[in-house]
Amino acid sequence: MEYILYEAAGGVGVITINRPKALNALNSQVLDELNETLDQVDLSTVRCLILTGAGEKSFVAGADIGEMSTLTKEQGEAFGKKGNDVFRKLETFPIPVIAAVNGFALGGGCEISMSCDIRLCSDNAVFGQPEVGLGITPGFGGTQRLARLVGAGMAKQLIYTARNIKAPEAYRIGLVNEVFSAEVDEAGNVTKTAQEVLLAAAKKMAATIAKNAPIAVRNCKKAINDGLDANMDDAIVIEEKLFGDCFETQDQVYGMAFFLDKNKDKVKEPFKNA
Ligand code: CAA
Repeated sequence: MEYILYEAAGGVGVITINRPKALNALNSQVLDELNETLDQVDLSTVRCLILTGAGEKSFVAGADIGEMSTLTKEQGEAFGKKGNDVFRKLETFPIPVIAAVNGFALGGGCEISMSCDIRLCSDNAVFGQPEVGLGITPGFGGTQRLARLVGAGMAKQLIYTARNIKAPEAYRIGLVNEVFSAEVDEAGNVTKTAQEVLLAAAKKMAATIAKNAPIAVRNCKKAINDGLDANMDDAIVIEEKLFGDCFETQDQVYGMAFFLDKNKDKVKEPFKNA
């Protein structure tokens, strides 16, 4: 693949969008390769994904403006569908996906981060939906997911004004869960860049998720996602079914037996995904 890097270790897969010369902007090829990468994730071993961008400056600076500049109405709609299909695949991917936002997350970059389950960012991150300044609407789910994440009023303000916001404001409005800064020693020298700290934190969180009972974690993701699209009466039924399904798993039998066994010397074994 030309624009996507993928590596997996210890139950955690890291997908890096690698087109730094264009600040990791999403052209059709990047979207196709991302789609293929998701298809290739080995779900029998990988239990959590991290999505990030190459370089220290940008997570994803949006959909590719050069490619979009000559599109017709039909081609524009098809390009929107291509992005939406991949982002929806990410959103409904069976295992959790953490966005490690290492810089610009504009337009399609903000939108892809919102398709992930959790957003963490470095303190140089900039979020925004600048599309109306380019004569278009957000086209990869921004009008829908931003409103759901930060509320319709704040989403409308950000989208209508096309104003970019920095990491502290993104944190304040609930768009990101946590912001990470560089580590410095007593002399003031940087010992770890903000991006290194961010990636280490994302990997630590992913490893924590990967240690928990995998079927239960997947069912939690599905219950939250599907429940958000339903009314409360239907949503709690969705939860009941996914809760019930866990009682068919070996991990539930083992997890509860481990708790109930009062032998203090025993060591918890890894969950089996079974
Ligand atoms: N598409 C295509 N190329 C892009 C790009 C994008 N979205 N963003 C950056 N680039 C390219 C630049 O054209 C430039 O290429 P060259 O070196 O060949 O000239 C390179 O990346 C570096 O960018 P800049 O020189 O502009 O870097 P900067 O530090 O001066 O500015 C920036 C950084 C503020 C992020 C600026 O690049 C920028 O504003 N980018 C566009 C952001 C944007 O509007 N994104 C939304 C796109 S629309 C969208 O995403 C629609 C949708 O919902 C589907």
